[in-house]
Amino acid sequence: MILSNSDDFIHNYQTNQNKEDLNKLITSIYQELLPSLKLSSIHPHHPVVVHQVLKPWQLLGTGNYAAVFYHSASPDLVIKIYAPGRPGWSEEVEVYRRLGSHPAFSKCYYAQDNFLVLQRLYGTTLYDAMHQGLAIPNQVIKDIDLALEYARSRNLNPHDIHGRNVMMSSEGKGLVVDISDFLKSEPCELWSDLKKAYSWLYIPLFSWHRLPLPYFVLDLVRGSYRIWGRWLKFISGT
Ligand SMILES: Nc1ncnc2c1ncn2[C@@H]1O[C@H](COP(=O)(O)OP(=O)(O)OP(=O)(O)O)[C@@H](O)[C@H]1O
Ligand SMILES: [Mg+2]
Repeated sequence: MILSNSDDFIHNYQTNQNKEDLNKLITSIYQELLPSLKLSSIHPHHPVVVHQVLKPWQLLGTGNYAAVFYHSASPDLVIKIYAPGRPGWSEEVEVYRRLGSHPAFSKCYYAQDNFLVLQRLYGTTLYDAMHQGLAIPNQVIKDIDLALEYARSRNLNPHDIHGRNVMMSSEGKGLVVDISDFLKSEPCELWSDLKKAYSWLYIPLFSWHRLPLPYFVLDLVRGSYRIWGRWLKFISGT
């Protein structure tokens, strides 16, 4: 599947100047980024590994399926590239098509091969916020709840909403940075569990002390959560 500016759903990149920038960026993706990039996914439960990316491209983040980069000349756009062998590109394009425009979500400006060009969302993931001991205002949680409700109204099923897939902006607004699993039909409790952990653990214990949590503690919680979930499924037979 190939999608470009001309497709209906791909958001117009506002002004002509911006369109020119987008075209330059796409040329640079093909001529500089993709030929030099070394990206691999060793395990679907661990972040992809970027072995090499050449300047002026910068790595912004990694997930278990993809890595996200930006070019210093177009800092408001990001390029999400799926690692070889990891599925999900066409589903993510379809989610952006259904999602339309909403301030808590990114927008897709271009999608082809195994990558998407997206609007950059500025903020800190809640995972990093906990690591840094930053206060997470309740408004962030409310904004994300509303955004997920909006996604449901667009016939999508919010899925895989964990701490690396949601962010808070510097103005204290909640953002949803990864919508790639929203076509999955099975229920997903991650966000409601994260909210419980926020109300029952984070607010009473950490919001007062601003205690930074080391990454290994956060990863241990994630890992134990996954094992606990599998165990619950096993004993309930679901
Ligand atoms: N539009 C965006 N603006 C800013 N940062 C982004 C954007 N999209 C992704 N990121 C950053 O890149 C990281 C990885 O992206 P993403 O979560 O989409 O990858 P993924 O492989 O689909 O993740 P998962 O492991 O949850 O499936 C995010 O956690 C976030 O830090
Ligand atoms: Mg993600």
